[in-house]
Amino acid sequence: LKYMYVMAFAVEEINRNSTLLPGVKLGYRIFDSCSRYPWALQHALLLVGGDTQSCNLTTCIIAVKNVNNISVSFPQISYFASCPCLSDRSKFPNFFRTIPSDIYQAWAMAQLAIRFHWTWIGAVIVNNDYGQLAIQVYVFVVTLYQCFYKYHLHIYEAWSTSNDLLQDLVTSKVASGVLGVAIQSSKISGFENYLRNLHPRDTPSYSYFSSSLKHPFTDTSQLRVSYNVYLAVYAAAHALHIFAHNFFFLEKSSLLNFYCFQLLQHLNKVNVTTPQGEMFYFQGADIPAKYDLVNWQNTPEGTLKLVLIGRVDGFDLILNESAIQWSTGSNQVPVSVCSESCPPGTRVATRKGEPVCCFDCIPCAEGEISNTTGSPHCERCPSEFWSDAERTACILRQVDFLSFNETLVCLCIVSFTFFLSSTLSVHPIHLKVRANNSELSFLLLVSLKLCFLCSLVFIGRPSVWACRFQQAAFGISFVLCVSCLLVKTIVVLAVFRSARPAFNLQIINFVIICAVWLSLSPPVPQQDLGFQGSKVTLKCAMASVVGFSLVLGYIGLLACTCLLLAFLARKLPDNFNEAKLITFSMLIFCAVWVAFVPAYVSSPGKYVVAVEIFAILASSYGLLLCIFAPKCFIILLRPEKNTKKHLMAR
Ligand SMILES: *[C@@H]1O[C@H](CO)[C@@H](O)[C@H](O)[C@H]1NC(C)=O
Ligand SMILES: *[C@@H]1O[C@H](CO)[C@@H](O)[C@H](O)[C@H]1NC(C)=O
Ligand SMILES: *[C@@H]1O[C@H](CO)[C@@H](O)[C@H](O)[C@H]1NC(C)=O
Repeated sequence: LKYMYVMAFAVEEINRNSTLLPGVKLGYRIFDSCSRYPWALQHALLLVGGDTQSCNLTTCIIAVKNVNNISVSFPQISYFASCPCLSDRSKFPNFFRTIPSDIYQAWAMAQLAIRFHWTWIGAVIVNNDYGQLAIQVYVFVVTLYQCFYKYHLHIYEAWSTSNDLLQDLVTSKVASGVLGVAIQSSKISGFENYLRNLHPRDTPSYSYFSSSLKHPFTDTSQLRVSYNVYLAVYAAAHALHIFAHNFFFLEKSSLLNFYCFQLLQHLNKVNVTTPQGEMFYFQGADIPAKYDLVNWQNTPEGTLKLVLIGRVDGFDLILNESAIQWSTGSNQVPVSVCSESCPPGTRVATRKGEPVCCFDCIPCAEGEISNTTGSPHCERCPSEFWSDAERTACILRQVDFLSFNETLVCLCIVSFTFFLSSTLSVHPIHLKVRANNSELSFLLLVSLKLCFLCSLVFIGRPSVWACRFQQAAFGISFVLCVSCLLVKTIVVLAVFRSARPAFNLQIINFVIICAVWLSLSPPVPQQDLGFQGSKVTLKCAMASVVGFSLVLGYIGLLACTCLLLAFLARKLPDNFNEAKLITFSMLIFCAVWVAFVPAYVSSPGKYVVAVEIFAILASSYGLLLCIFAPKCFIILLRPEKNTKKHLMAR
């Protein structure tokens, strides 16, 4: 009823206007469709009188939504048909409207969801063109940013200005805090007065309006659809005005018989300023989008009131967030997510078959971090760094080496002390031995002690000098040891009377190799980044593999020669024939160092050094036991065999 009266009001206003359509009086005919499409169609056809050529001054301000499914060729201006489908000029060439296309409304709602970071959204839609198209636009906009899945009741589609809902006490219990996109509200000056001054005399059926009654009918504070009707009438009048102006030479009467398509052309040209000071023109079928953003807030009476919280102007969304009262009653924006975003230190793992906003958070693996919320993946720390306990930052890896306060090192030292003391105890015993080359045995004992001692220099933080010293000490003591044995064997074989020159030669050779290697390309302390972990092993890296191989090879060569010669000499008659012992000791020596290689290669980090120390200790002790244990046995337990007489008897 109100829409009818606003049309009547607009027509009367135009008729009074001396500049718009001067000398022309507009009229109107209103039919009741009774909300039935067939009736609406029938009445629309009645309006054009079956004559599709002559408009008979008719512009149809239509209230029905889908008359356009039937092709009608007179211009129509709708104030309420918002379906985006009607913007299609190829299907609806004669259609205009003063309500924005719902595309903008769906877009605005999607923008709200994005603004409030709602990623878990449900939609309740009307299952028709309106609902389907709106949801398509909505989903399109929202899925550009986040995901759309389920049901969340914070946004209503176009019912946000419904008085029935607002006044309903049941609704108010569940629907406070609703955000709505409403048709823009405007003022029409003089309209309230017009409504209040309606008299039963003029409108016999509606005789109940009095100036004191507060009724939705007389409430003109929020004219939304009514204002669209008002605009529609003015659009038609302006089109007619342009037409009349262009054909001023025509008789007034010929205005009655102009052609529909002519009016159509002039509707396209309408570009006026409304009394509210806004530009009004059609873009195709549509007018530029303008909406109010409203919020349903509780009133003390228990009903709901509409509060303006912002507006939409085309693709701009202007929102006063602090004016919103949410369903919780506070100003806190409600959270709607499927999964809480992943904290730093974890990464997002999508769940198979579920929307992308539903995910699990998986802690980063060791050595990887994520330092932002909702990180899609963990990043590997650079090689000198490792992840902290929280997996949120890369921290410098701790330098690790075999130090003196470790269990393993304690074990090394205990065995070292044991071995050294055994060597020391052998020493005085050995002085009693009556053997021909006791000088060599003495040297062997000394070099064995050196071997034990050199295991100690492998412990501690590797430094430039420590790295060189380790290799030199290790090499020299072992070459001494093996050389002593080799010379002993040579003496047994009686190749030389004195084996001293051979011995000296071996030592000098080795010292040269060692000196060249250590001066040209010595081992240097280096971090072993190959192994993962919060610690990085500092070790002496062999800068020259050739040098290291030469040193080891030299010792190996001596050992093999010694083994071979001792093996050949094992059956020669001799008192205290040491050849057997040397064969045996060399076998043990070689076995230890052959076993050392795989252990060395497969040990992680600093344990490589420990393995080396054990190999040194084990091989030296092997030598000590094999060579000296039988002698000690004789000296301590069978002293009668250690006499000159016994020796001579042999
Ligand atoms: C409407 O007219 C104004 C000038 O009055 C002009 O600035 C504006 O661009 C016109 N709009 C359109 C869509 O033609
Ligand atoms: C936003 O709303 C608050 C609360 O209603 C009001 O005090 C403030 O003036 C508004 N701000 C703007 C810019 O309209
Ligand atoms: C997060 O880590 C990156 C490197 O992975 C770094 O560039 C950035 O500064 C870090 N941000 C914060 C806030 O720590």
